[in-house]
Amino acid sequence: MKVLVVGAGGREHALAWKIAQSPLVEQVFCAPGNAGTALVAENVDIAADNIERLLEFARENNIGLTVVGPEQPLVLGIVDRFQEKGLRIFGPSKHAAEIEGSKEFCKDLMWQYGIPTADYLATASMKEAKIYAMDHEGPIVVKADGLAAGKGVFVCGDSSQAIKAINSIMKDKAFGEAGNQVVIEEFLKGQEVSLLAFTDGKTVLPLEGAQDHKAAYDGDKGPNTGGMGAYSPAPVFTPELKQQVMETVMLPAVRAMAKEGRPYKGILYAGLMLTSNGPKVLEFNARFGDPETQPLLMRMQSDIVPLFEACIDETLDQQQIQWKPDSSVCVVMAAAGYPGSYQKGTVIQGLEEAAKLPDVVVFHAGTKSSGGNVVTSGGRVLGVTALGHDTQSAIANAYNATARITWDGAQYRKDIGGKAK
Ligand code: AMP
Ligand code: GLY
Repeated sequence: MKVLVVGAGGREHALAWKIAQSPLVEQVFCAPGNAGTALVAENVDIAADNIERLLEFARENNIGLTVVGPEQPLVLGIVDRFQEKGLRIFGPSKHAAEIEGSKEFCKDLMWQYGIPTADYLATASMKEAKIYAMDHEGPIVVKADGLAAGKGVFVCGDSSQAIKAINSIMKDKAFGEAGNQVVIEEFLKGQEVSLLAFTDGKTVLPLEGAQDHKAAYDGDKGPNTGGMGAYSPAPVFTPELKQQVMETVMLPAVRAMAKEGRPYKGILYAGLMLTSNGPKVLEFNARFGDPETQPLLMRMQSDIVPLFEACIDETLDQQQIQWKPDSSVCVVMAAAGYPGSYQKGTVIQGLEEAAKLPDVVVFHAGTKSSGGNVVTSGGRVLGVTALGHDTQSAIANAYNATARITWDGAQYRKDIGGKAK
């Protein structure tokens, strides 16, 4: 079978890398891909949100399965379009992907179905937003309603910071149309974990837990990013807590979506805060996490392709996932300035040396080939991912590999996995 992976980040490199290992797969394509996906797949020069050209490519090349990485094409309805033309594609429909595409829809769904989450106000009125912010002492979180690549969230220490955030989202339109509405919510304290699960709309098959590191700098300081590193398993996310999340979050969410006439198939990703009052949902995503997918897929023993197929065919109840007992850690190397503006086109050194290390895979994110070199072409550039017999050795292996890779302005957090101690 020929498989098409849609997207260009570290998550897509990890997906293409894992799919290429399947005995069911003869060839993998990645659109548009990066310099790393080119090592395991054939890159196709079509943007991830150009649905009509992707469809044309899939039909012309007899693609048996399409796997979508990023949220944008899902929210634009890529799954609906492919299905209309009789093509097999893994992911939620446009209506189901709204669970990520609109924070207001997501919060209202949780509220209606009793899924634990922070108290909130969703509004299109700047005045109402500001009144809510003024009425709340202490920290509060302000979020653009629509998609903003993980950057539309401001954790504000007090109401004056919250007012600034509201102005930036709603008045200055820092995230464009995504800021037509805001969600303002109660600040939740605790450790964050990500639980991703396959679902065919009925059965929910969870992956192992993972922990992301959203803030740009060590000690969770600085602005929010798409994610600066991740590891799995996360010891704080005990089997009992995972079970609790399955019962109070994942299964109710999948049932709620079915009841709302938006049956959900694909990966459902819950971003959770483990509070002293139990796990609460920060957000749902309609796709694999980036960078969580990199350590998760390093640990996945089973072939991933039958899992995609079972979600499409609604036979997920017949599947299981085997995991390696090892831990895995992914350190994201980013361009100087990220998540703000950054330079592109800088030559990266040391990739081959790092790749030779045992138990290490250097997943590419914002890279491209240029004149025989690999150069930076995005904010998050690489996800240096390693296995180890426990978290500490996986951390050591990942940083040992990271230390061999250099470019002018490379920055990365030095404390990925530190909370696992
Ligand atoms: P979101 O995109 O909604 O998951 O928010 C991005 C990040 O902002 C989360 O991963 C958290 O680190 C932080 N965050 C979001 N909502 C809250 C909240 N209610 N309390 C504390 N931190 C939050
Ligand atoms: N790692 C955060 C995300 O994928 O949204």
